Amino acid sequence: MSKILILGLPGSGKSTQIEKISEHLKIPSIQMGAILRKIAQEEGELGDKVRLMMAEGKLVDDETVADIIKIECTSSGDSYVLEGYPRTKKQIDLFEPDFDSVFYLDIPMEKARERMVERGRKDDTEEAIQKRFEVQMKDMDYIKNHYQDRLTVIDSTKSIAEVFARILENIK
Ligand code: AP5
Repeated sequence: MSKILILGLPGSGKSTQIEKISEHLKIPSIQMGAILRKIAQEEGELGDKVRLMMAEGKLVDDETVADIIKIECTSSGDSYVLEGYPRTKKQIDLFEPDFDSVFYLDIPMEKARERMVERGRKDDTEEAIQKRFEVQMKDMDYIKNHYQDRLTVIDSTKSIAEVFARILENIK
């Protein structure tokens, strides 16, 4: 039984690691960005709003993401690995999932930028990447500090396998 949170800048490797952890521990993975990318494909007011925010690299409003994550966490049971939430202090205030272990994937901004340019996802334009760094860094120190008692910082410039091994060693 383990509830794990993966934190890090855009391009730090959160999605890459969460998939490996989920497969290895056989626990559900919850990826806020992936959930929102699906919603962005839907027609209607919510889909339109989410599509616009994501294309510009801005955060979707706190209430919407808190409502989504509450449903996801409740239906995932006793164990999960999550990334992309919380991203603001307000999200913590609105709904805070339980976490036993929290990891921060540490990487210089330039290295993360290089990885995203190479990956070439739809929202990996120069402007959207810059905006994502700005908005996601805003509350990052607050969030890291909030989870200080169960936080492990991992050097995410290392290989995918090395980062994964370090995470596994430190899961509580
Ligand atoms: P989201 O999808 O969460 O994007 P992000 O945080 O910007 O993170 P990325 O997916 O870009 O990077 P990653 O850390 O997962 O890295 P990856 O593993 O892909 O969010 C997108 C948008 O959704 C936001 O902009 C916002 O609009 C909205 N949103 C999401 N959550 C929200 C919230 N809570 N509130 C409001 N809005 C929200 O790796 C990157 C690349 O590097 C890959 O190509 C990978 O193969 C490669 N790589 C990974 N690890 C390594 C390694 N160790 N060595 C070499 N290459 C590596």
